Amino acid sequence: MNESNQTGGHANESFRFVQLSDLHLSFIGSPSPLHLANKRILGYLSWLRKRRHTHQRWILDLAIEEIKRLHVDHYAITGDLTHIGLKNEFEQVSQWLTEVAPANDVTVIPGNHDLYVNEQWDRSFSLWEKYLAGDDDASSVQARSNNTLDAYTQLNQIYPTVRTRQHVAFIGLSSVFAAPWFRATGSVAEQQLERLQRILSSKVLNAYCKVLLIHHPLTLTHTPSRKCLLNRDRLIDLLKQYPVELVLHGHGHNTCFDSIQSNDNTEIPIIGMSSSSSTQQAHNYKAEFLLFDVSKNQSSWSIHKRNYTLDIKQKIFIPTTQQEFIMPFAI
Ligand SMILES: [Fe+2]
Repeated sequence: MNESNQTGGHANESFRFVQLSDLHLSFIGSPSPLHLANKRILGYLSWLRKRRHTHQRWILDLAIEEIKRLHVDHYAITGDLTHIGLKNEFEQVSQWLTEVAPANDVTVIPGNHDLYVNEQWDRSFSLWEKYLAGDDDASSVQARSNNTLDAYTQLNQIYPTVRTRQHVAFIGLSSVFAAPWFRATGSVAEQQLERLQRILSSKVLNAYCKVLLIHHPLTLTHTPSRKCLLNRDRLIDLLKQYPVELVLHGHGHNTCFDSIQSNDNTEIPIIGMSSSSSTQQAHNYKAEFLLFDVSKNQSSWSIHKRNYTLDIKQKIFIPTTQQEFIMPFAI
């Protein structure tokens, strides 16, 4: 792995995708008090006081404008598209998604703000279903036939999702549950972990560069315990035994990097990013999107990552740091 400040070109044989996260793009307005008679009241007050100023739609629009110039093959969005997961917010996001790219080219996973309380499936994630569902038709058909279920139950039936695009496999996990008041913790349900183990141990994805998408970070290095992934050790143990080539997350609204050493001594990069709509100006908290070019060598994957960071005065996203990861093929 190495890091520099240079920019690179888009090799023809590479698959190019972008990661966006923590968009918080919806406008809440004045919801019915009935919808706020639970933990949502906290999130609503936080939006009124702070979040509606911290997250600006024009910044996200600017990011999408720049991304379209970069001709990406795929969008990976790692959760928190809403503030408090109201139906009206899901509808606004759904409309925005249709303007970004066809559902086949956009993979969305849930964030804790999208499941602020355990809403009904048909008032929430069913509106994004075509962006969430894996390639396996069975999961989306099952989702459609069980719309009366609550969102948490349904998410745990759908995930993990697998979407293969060219030589990249996006593996989505849901780490969200309706966390207690004043907490933003996550957890990956045991049924998801068991299925993830079956997928990774079967080696069916070994011909692909495996990119794991999860909202919560896998370590405590850059995350306070009130926002952590509670059963991170279980997931880390699984990845040590069955490595992927890349783990991407959001949630912390900060640019961060970590890694896991697998049992076969592969260093798995864990990449966290800032919010793509943030007005914050502190170092590592500026709005960004991450551009990845994945190409196949003789015996390894070459993964090139560039951070595009907002220059708020000039109103442009500019390439800043970059990293290159050479990951040996899984055997
Ligand atoms: Fe989050």
